[in-house]
Amino acid sequence: MNTTAPTSPASESSERGGRRSFLGALIAVGTASMAALLSIPLARLALFPLRRRAGQEGWSDLGPLESFTRLDHPVARQVTIEQPDGWERAITQQMVYVIPDSHGQPKVVSSVCPHLGCSVQWRRDQQRFVCPCHGGTFALDGHRLAGPPARDMDSLPHRIQDGHLYCRFVFYRQLLASQEAVD
Ligand code: FES
Repeated sequence: MNTTAPTSPASESSERGGRRSFLGALIAVGTASMAALLSIPLARLALFPLRRRAGQEGWSDLGPLESFTRLDHPVARQVTIEQPDGWERAITQQMVYVIPDSHGQPKVVSSVCPHLGCSVQWRRDQQRFVCPCHGGTFALDGHRLAGPPARDMDSLPHRIQDGHLYCRFVFYRQLLASQEAVD
């Protein structure tokens, strides 16, 4: 015996309408969630250059100024820098040298060879900087003396604050005759 009450065409159509609106709401929520998820990498991509520029503005404290008053030889210092590496930030160490400028005041140069990026070292026995890779040499004040490098050692932005010498490490393009920062 069939005990189910027959449904009228009106109630059947309102039931179908309810199912349709529930499905519509579900699709809308799904689409909104997907759009939110997709927008995260897009937002990171849009903000990336700003974040990178902010990170590169870091100044490194090289120590009290009195450590650099009698510069008859370069004073080496290691600085810690943060670099963008894909979406991450890589922390590396770079060597810089504090050397005298033409007035005997401290200036800071990068140890990265402007030829192909090897690490230039001060050779006390030769009284000059020597690059171990292809024999580029530089004077105490960073001027190029010989070898394949096309320019002097790269000078770095520096400043004196509260009696300390600070520098900001910058990577420069290699092989060029003039100093050009890597963006
Ligand atoms: S990398 Fe320094 S001379 Fe070539």
